[in-house]
Amino acid sequence: MDNARTTDYELLAQQVASLAEGTPGWMPALANVAALLGEALPSINWVGFYMAVAGPNDEQDLALGPFWGRPACVSIPYGAGVCGRAVETNEPQLVPDVHAFPGHIACDAASRSELVVPIHATAADGSAAVWGVLDCDSPIPARFSAADLEGFSRIVHALESSADLLGPAVGPIRP
Ligand code: SME
Repeated sequence: MDNARTTDYELLAQQVASLAEGTPGWMPALANVAALLGEALPSINWVGFYMAVAGPNDEQDLALGPFWGRPACVSIPYGAGVCGRAVETNEPQLVPDVHAFPGHIACDAASRSELVVPIHATAADGSAAVWGVLDCDSPIPARFSAADLEGFSRIVHALESSADLLGPAVGPIRP
């Protein structure tokens, strides 16, 4: 089945933008986006966010953010696994067979393919930096196509333009 053809990424990107615009604080916004994507995308077992943070020795690290699916690895070093590769290279990663990806981190043994897209945040001075990633796993080999990558990139772009990623994680609850 061509999953990308069964997914209306334009509509999803609009829904992501309106969820992010209508929610104070990026954390509840991303929580709803993860829930939306988890319900909307066929044949996946996990979708969610990892956020770039400083690790215990000030090294760059990825911390688990809002997601849909089973409990997952809470921290991933830069360069490690598919997510770490995406932030280190600043490039999306389309992985048809996770078992063939050196260093893949198996949070769920059922996962067979994966798509990861870096998310950027732009500061007031116009400088952009990697804020984190949108990560999606599937139990089906080669679940994600180039059309899915394009669709996920639209979703990430909608998020980058609509969520205040450098603002407070939560609130104000009642503006
Ligand atoms: N498989 C990922 C780890 C995160 S889980 O898929 C939720 C990776 O190799 O980076």
